[in-house]
Amino acid sequence: MKKVLSVRNLSKTYGTGCPLCIASTGPEAETNVCPHCGSVVAIHDVSFDLYEGEILGIMGESGSGKSTIVKNLYFDQIPESGQATFYDANQAHPLFELNSAQQRWLKNHRFGMVYQNPHLGLNFNISAGGNIAERLLMSDLMHYGEIRKRVKTLLARTEVLLSRVDELPRNFSGGMQQRVQIAKALATQPPLLFLDEVTTGLDLSVQARILDLIMEIQQELNTAMIVVTHDLGVIRLLAGRTLVMKYGRIIETGLTDQILEDPQHAYTQRLVASAL
Ligand SMILES: Nc1ncnc2c1ncn2[C@@H]1O[C@H](COP(=O)(O)OP(=O)(O)OP(=O)(O)O)[C@@H](O)[C@H]1O
Ligand SMILES: [Mg+2]
Ligand SMILES: [Zn+2]
Repeated sequence: MKKVLSVRNLSKTYGTGCPLCIASTGPEAETNVCPHCGSVVAIHDVSFDLYEGEILGIMGESGSGKSTIVKNLYFDQIPESGQATFYDANQAHPLFELNSAQQRWLKNHRFGMVYQNPHLGLNFNISAGGNIAERLLMSDLMHYGEIRKRVKTLLARTEVLLSRVDELPRNFSGGMQQRVQIAKALATQPPLLFLDEVTTGLDLSVQARILDLIMEIQQELNTAMIVVTHDLGVIRLLAGRTLVMKYGRIIETGLTDQILEDPQHAYTQRLVASAL
């Protein structure tokens, strides 16, 4: 299988940091806050690979560093150290060595992001269709008629009523806002998609339909995805492989079935047991 992304030793601390930060935080220390300097070690030494068409789950309790991983890979933040390589067609892009124009290009053309908070992913001052069109406009090739057509195709694909294409996102339900975000993320048919708690806070029936949509997209487009969630049900349904995070560290990794059936780490055992 073709590798899409390789992440090595990714670390991010909020705060000035001190020489004791790493040794004084993590699962054993049961905190991510350094007692000496007060910095937050959000993630430390995170490494993993992602393959074409694969859905990788990142699971862990609130504050364990899940979102920090995707924020750094999507260039929403600058990591403190580590490498990440995105393999596109025949080219390897060292993500953190690119200049900001190159990063923006990848972000707009080759990556997609769906945030838990639709306000982060959508411009609430322009219509649903406008949000998607904006992203298509960045991909130069298309003229107005083509863009309009493609917007409608994307909204139909994500089951947003075409009659609502010109409405503002604020008029939409939470589930519908997530569908528009997904449509926008898919606009450029990116080979890599980040999904951060996309179904959190939605009604169960709405959640189920969005999860179905995500699985369909994976099958149709063979998109590689990183799915961040604290919901074991989402992991079970979507992710072939899973990373379990605690206090900024990966404490367990492997095939999702194995992790759920035979968790090795005491923390994962508790998580799995509590979800039964
Ligand atoms: N801008 C920031 N400044 C300081 N600390 C931050 C900042 N952003 C995140 N943190 C801290 O970094 C840690 C990891 O945060 P992160 O958002 O990655 O966790 P998470 O696993 O996504 O949690 P949740 O499930 O609540 O979304 C947390 O302790 C959080 O409080
Ligand atoms: Mg988060
Ligand atoms: Zn410190």
